[in-house]
Amino acid sequence: MSTLLRIDSSARINGSHSSRLADLAEESWFEANPGGRILRRHVGAETIPVLSQETITGFYAASDEMTDELKQATSISDALIGELHSADTLLLAVPIYNFGVPAALKCWIDQVTRMGQTFAYEDGSFKGLLTIQRAIVICAYGSEGYLPGQSFEQANFLEPYLRFLLSFLGINEIDIINVQATTADDATVAAHLAGARADITAAFAPK
Ligand SMILES: Cc1cc2nc3c(=O)[nH]c(=O)nc-3n(C[C@H](O)[C@H](O)[C@H](O)COP(=O)(O)O)c2cc1C
Repeated sequence: MSTLLRIDSSARINGSHSSRLADLAEESWFEANPGGRILRRHVGAETIPVLSQETITGFYAASDEMTDELKQATSISDALIGELHSADTLLLAVPIYNFGVPAALKCWIDQVTRMGQTFAYEDGSFKGLLTIQRAIVICAYGSEGYLPGQSFEQANFLEPYLRFLLSFLGINEIDIINVQATTADDATVAAHLAGARADITAAFAPK
């Protein structure tokens, strides 16, 4: 069965542009995959813990070294990675916060980027272990100018980071959908949202 894993990461539960656009992407995915399964996490609403000494020790411990304490410390990572391994499509809804990913999403990333589970180091090089075929990443920016060739491109530590990370974990097809100027006047916001919605529709159009 096709499975979509959706991760929302805005701190806003209501009024989030990235989440609203992700709703459209989710609907479009479901139309293309009727009967498919959708797993959702809102890491802005639930707290994914920051890595601790025990978590990192557990990440690198051999199975016969795993104490109850280390098993407990790695249990959230195990669950989040299990969700990734059960999905074939990943949908990320991400606001830019202070030029990069929200801390809540970084906590999720730190829990799922794990040697031997989502990436390996073999014969002197890294290899991604995810079997997810496609990631759709919706990025919301309050201001504008962040896209390639635009005046503020050098301040965009969101899209290049997510592209690199997802590729590092083994996802080859990565579609980024941007909505900029979400804090501008109503007409500007409406125009940018319409553009992003069209991009989402195009991303799910039959090829
Ligand atoms: C803590 C915080 C930091 C932000 N930092 C930036 C930033 O660096 N650049 C920017 O263009 N917008 C920034 N914004 C604006 C958000 O990216 C923008 O409002 C976006 O639409 C938020 O996503 P959401 O609508 O899904 O909640 C920031 C907003 C917050 C709350």
